[in-house]
Amino acid sequence: SRSIKIAPSILSADFADFGAEIRAIEAQGADWVHVDVMDGHFVPNLTFGPPAVKAFRPHVKTVMDVHLMIAPVDPYIDAFAEAGADILTAHVEAGPHIHRTLQAIRGAGMKAGVALNPGTPAEAVAHLLDLTDLICVMTVNPGFGGQKFIDMTAKISALRAMIGDRPVHIEIDGGVTPETAPLVAAAGADVLVAGSAVFKGGSVADPAPYGANIAAI
Ligand code: DX5
Ligand code: ZN
Repeated sequence: SRSIKIAPSILSADFADFGAEIRAIEAQGADWVHVDVMDGHFVPNLTFGPPAVKAFRPHVKTVMDVHLMIAPVDPYIDAFAEAGADILTAHVEAGPHIHRTLQAIRGAGMKAGVALNPGTPAEAVAHLLDLTDLICVMTVNPGFGGQKFIDMTAKISALRAMIGDRPVHIEIDGGVTPETAPLVAAAGADVLVAGSAVFKGGSVADPAPYGANIAAI
């Protein structure tokens, strides 16, 4: 059976206390820390950039999984490498040269991820399977936490078949809850991002709900 990793998204964390929130979710069982970078252009929201990611780095003891919802990507790859991203994920929809972008991410010493919006077919990554370490399947339209899950199980199954025995993670991002997690795990996902489902009911002062929420997914 495939072991499932949980990657809480700090988009749902207290924006005034990221260091403490990162330490709290890792102490409560997070496998990775999912960092949502948004530019207000590729998505209708604006979060933070390389300086913030660099500040998060010393607090992350697991894996810093950086999700770029930005366009263009290439001019910022070196800055995110310097900031300490372990995985850097670019959207296939962010520009015309995703093949070159993934080469550049690996060239900068990071693991490379490619993300697919709900409307983008699995075939969009058919020629990238040896250039990527992670395929991020969006199960919401990107930009915000707390949105309703969009069923992408057919796409997930298709991707798992395309991947074959390559060491490529399938990460699910958006609307993951204890109700939706089994669906996507059965379809072939092995990393589940969860923001609102992890942070709900807890705080830096009372992080125990974070652990219960992670365990429930
Ligand atoms: C959405 C982000 C997701 C989001 C997940 O654009 O990429 O990572 O933070 O939040 P939930 O789990 O609340 O949908
Ligand atoms: Zn994300």
